[in-house]
Amino acid sequence: MTKITIDLIEEFSKDHYTVMEKLNSIADAADNQDEARIRTLAKELDELLGPHFYFEEMDLYPATKRFVGEERVEEYIEDHEPVAPTLENLKELEEISPEKAEEIKDKLTSFYKHVNDCEGTTVLVDALLEEEKNELASKFEKYRKDIGSLTSWKKES
Ligand SMILES: [Fe+2]
Repeated sequence: MTKITIDLIEEFSKDHYTVMEKLNSIADAADNQDEARIRTLAKELDELLGPHFYFEEMDLYPATKRFVGEERVEEYIEDHEPVAPTLENLKELEEISPEKAEEIKDKLTSFYKHVNDCEGTTVLVDALLEEEKNELASKFEKYRKDIGSLTSWKKES
């Protein structure tokens, strides 16, 4: 059996705080009409969210099904859908007008909402059996090494 070196909930939750910081920074950069900063932040989010979303969609959300039901799991996954196309656009953002800045910030609202929902799943994960948690932890650790950016694996799937 693979040795588990990560604390699943801690690692997973840490990602959400990092995502929140980056979303806040994107909102600030939009207010300052700093498109170069937005492009950089979007690239960083794309890298971070690649393994994170993969893990959630393939393993973590399905593991919460027995608590929240199939429909809720589908909602979690559907909430991910606009993220890759939005990051794709932000990574190539060339010129930002005040209107565009507002549009970007509007879009971030649904992202904030999802981070909030997603962090709530840690309570459910904690309620899983120890062996299930260990299995999830080893998968998360593996995906961190093997899975590339969100926009790249979404394009392939
Ligand atoms: Fe998440």
